[in-house]
Amino acid sequence: MGRQVNLYFVLPLLFLLLLSLRRGQGSNPDRPTCGRCDPQLSCNCSHAGFTCVPTVTDGALSLDLSSNNIAAVNADDLVGHRRLRALSLHGNRLAEIHPTAFDPLWSLQDLDLSDNQLTALSHRWFSKLGALQQLNLLDNPYSCLGSPPLFQRLVWLRRLRFGGPALKELTKGDLSGVTQLEELTVHANNLTRYEAGALADIWPLGRVSLSLHGPFLTNTTLASAVLGDVSYPETPLAVSDLHLTDYRSVQVLRAAAVRRIRYLTLHNVFLSDSAIVYLLEVMDGVPLTLISMDGVTLMGQGRWERANRTDHKSIDEFLVRNAVVLNVFEFVSFLQLRFLLQYPRRVSVINAKVFVTPCVTSRLLKSLQYLDLSDNLLTDLTLKETLCYGDGTLKDLRVLNISGNALKSLSTVSHLVAKLSKLTHLDVSRNGYSSMPPGCSWPSTLQFLNISGAKLTSITPCLPPTLEVLDLSNNDLKVLFLVLPSLRELHLSGNKFLRLPPGWMFPNLQTLTIQSNTLNMFGRSDLRSYGRLRSLQAGQNKFVCSCDFVDFFQSAIDGVGDVQLTDQVESYVCDSPLDLAGEPVGRVRLPVVECHRVLLVSVSCGVALSVAVLLWVLLWRLHAVWYLRMMWAWLRAKRSSRRRRRHRDGSGSEALISFDAFVSYSERDASWVENYLVPELEEPRDGDDPHRGPRPLNLCLHKRDFLPGHWIVDNIISAMERSRRTIFVLSENFVRSDWCRYELDFSHFWLFDGDAGGDATILILLEPLAKDDIPKRFCKLRKLMSSTTYLEWPQDEERSEEFWRSLRNALRGGEEEED
Ligand SMILES: *[C@@H]1O[C@H](CO)[C@@H](O)[C@H](O)[C@H]1NC(C)=O
Ligand SMILES: *[C@@H]1O[C@H](CO)[C@@H](O)[C@H](O)[C@H]1NC(C)=O
Ligand SMILES: *[C@@H]1O[C@H](CO)[C@@H](O)[C@H](O)[C@H]1NC(C)=O
Ligand SMILES: *[C@@H]1O[C@H](CO)[C@@H](O)[C@H](O)[C@H]1NC(C)=O
Ligand SMILES: *[C@@H]1O[C@H](CO)[C@@H](O)[C@H](O)[C@H]1NC(C)=O
Ligand SMILES: *[C@@H]1O[C@H](CO)[C@@H](O)[C@H](O)[C@H]1NC(C)=O
Repeated sequence: MGRQVNLYFVLPLLFLLLLSLRRGQGSNPDRPTCGRCDPQLSCNCSHAGFTCVPTVTDGALSLDLSSNNIAAVNADDLVGHRRLRALSLHGNRLAEIHPTAFDPLWSLQDLDLSDNQLTALSHRWFSKLGALQQLNLLDNPYSCLGSPPLFQRLVWLRRLRFGGPALKELTKGDLSGVTQLEELTVHANNLTRYEAGALADIWPLGRVSLSLHGPFLTNTTLASAVLGDVSYPETPLAVSDLHLTDYRSVQVLRAAAVRRIRYLTLHNVFLSDSAIVYLLEVMDGVPLTLISMDGVTLMGQGRWERANRTDHKSIDEFLVRNAVVLNVFEFVSFLQLRFLLQYPRRVSVINAKVFVTPCVTSRLLKSLQYLDLSDNLLTDLTLKETLCYGDGTLKDLRVLNISGNALKSLSTVSHLVAKLSKLTHLDVSRNGYSSMPPGCSWPSTLQFLNISGAKLTSITPCLPPTLEVLDLSNNDLKVLFLVLPSLRELHLSGNKFLRLPPGWMFPNLQTLTIQSNTLNMFGRSDLRSYGRLRSLQAGQNKFVCSCDFVDFFQSAIDGVGDVQLTDQVESYVCDSPLDLAGEPVGRVRLPVVECHRVLLVSVSCGVALSVAVLLWVLLWRLHAVWYLRMMWAWLRAKRSSRRRRRHRDGSGSEALISFDAFVSYSERDASWVENYLVPELEEPRDGDDPHRGPRPLNLCLHKRDFLPGHWIVDNIISAMERSRRTIFVLSENFVRSDWCRYELDFSHFWLFDGDAGGDATILILLEPLAKDDIPKRFCKLRKLMSSTTYLEWPQDEERSEEFWRSLRNALRGGEEEED
């Protein structure tokens, strides 16, 4: 029975143990951890050499695992990440993803699996990703998307990228479920089989980018079918990796032309002269507004005039970027292209090694409002030719961008544009301007001027007062002294400014950037001088973290008045003092001692003073002063008494005792002492027998017997030494009112501490006085009152005789012993 019970108990335990062991094995205890998460819970674990998915905090919102060596995503690698919004596995060696690996990612919006080794895609991966909006499957070695359809469940999908060098076929059901996209990118350079309509059901379709190198060369039917399926008037179409030389390949674009596309971009294309003529013919009459070519190699001579009968009225913008002309020296200028050049309002030829545009060609650009010739080889001389020596050709030009050329003279460019009476924007940045002439002529419409990235060392009134935006960043400027009343934006980053330019010169300035200069500090008053400033960027300067600046800055992080620091607070870093170098100004904690010296001194003085006052009050309340004074008096008295005694011993002896009693009394009780005590004790009594009767006593009274000019305590002590007894006349007055006397007298108790106390003291109570009425600190007196019997001055006359007798007896008591 007992054995069975044990078994029942043990078996489930064993089972649990096994289960936990299995779980342990399954979840790979060796998984590394990635802790590179920022406070926004965005974890960047890219370029970290991981070979499997690392463990990351469950709270992560975005996880970048790109450029690692991860080969597989296991079933429970991503368990717990139900908050994850973005996951990137781009650039790994992923060959295997467990079918349920992504199931926990309920919130995932952005998934990037591009550039991996996935040879087959599984619809199971995406079946639980209901929130997915972006999916990138580019550049994996799969040859088809596979079935059942991958994207069936992805109802929110808006950006889809797929394909790669191995993609061979696309069939009709492949994209079922995908109905509407903002962006579609398909890499299909090796596509050999396309089922017409495979991409046709997506609408509206925001932007399409297709790589169709192979089909354009080998199967134009296929390429046409693809293009036809994605071409809509409102859908910008970009076709990449084309080699267009012959008639057949160019005809593929007719499929897009008949769908009346309006935006066409060719990326990475190789074009011959004849291909361009065919292209212009294919696009004849099509309401194309933008032709853009990015990464174009032209191998002809620019002879496109054979297409001069075609109609391109609708062309608004013509953009060529990163163009290479193979036969530069044979290339003719676009002289015969009036049919093409008279329409566009915007022309950009960027980074195309253009060194001149002949004036005749410029004159063809009749509608031109925007001309961008940035990153070319223009010089002052060829710019003169291009702008027809400033005769006002291109009269509608509003924006001229000649950034990144080899221009050297600002006065030349100002002359050339002076007659462009509509010019508002001029970008002459990244040129070789090293000086500014004292005066220039600009069109009165000029509002925007960019002279950044030159080598200017000073600013002159060459700059027009009409400017609203001025960019002078990345020059060698130290000061700027020029009133620009209309300026709204001023960019001065990357110069050598030591301080902010005075704000009154720019009464309308709203934005100021002055990063990466040598600013040491700025303060409230500097910012106040800019009446309208809203946004300031001043990071990456050489800040001197003084108390004032740190204090100002930390309060300014949230804005001074209307001014906001719009760059990263972390970019404001201390340069000095040395111990703070590299520390973000916002986080510096300066020692209080350093920053509030005056305050500190005054506070500590105040504290010291009040402590002193408090102490004084306390001492006063506790009568410590009194005690101290007493102690002092006692010490002095003791010393002088000893001295006196020595002196006496040395000089033989003068009679030590010369009084019968020293009388200590309050001034207020003087009348009693003088009228009763003295007469009673000192005068021989009538009717007494002078031989038998009491002899008169000799009293010492301070009024009468003290030596003038001696210290009172000395006097008292000497009086007491020379008196046989001390009589204290106690009364309310004595105790309460007559402080001084009392204090002095009290010293006697200490002086005659112990040996002289007791019998030597006679207390007379003039009025009834309870022991408790005597202040506590006169403890000696209190003790005395309890140990010594005292004489009470009787209130009725008859008993006074008795009192005097007792007093006399008390005074004579010692005498008899002595005799
Ligand atoms: C992660 O860091 C790399 C550089 O290490 C960077 O290229 C990438 O953009 C970063 N990813 C994110 C999501 O910020
Ligand atoms: C696909 O096309 C590229 C050129 O784009 C070529 O180099 C490659 O060999 C082709 N791959 C396959 C699998 O056909
Ligand atoms: C071109 O592609 C179409 C559609 O996939 C296909 O039917 C045809 O056989 C291909 N032609 C050649 C020559 O490969
Ligand atoms: C078109 O160019 C040809 C030369 O190629 C020329 O003969 C013809 O006159 C031109 N037509 C127009 C309308 O410019
Ligand atoms: C001029 O071109 C440069 C480089 O292409 C660009 O950065 C700049 O924004 C352009 N300026 C204007 C005013 O468009
Ligand atoms: C001025 O030109 C530079 C370089 O081309 C560019 O980076 C900058 O954005 C331009 N400034 C403005 C205000 O557009």
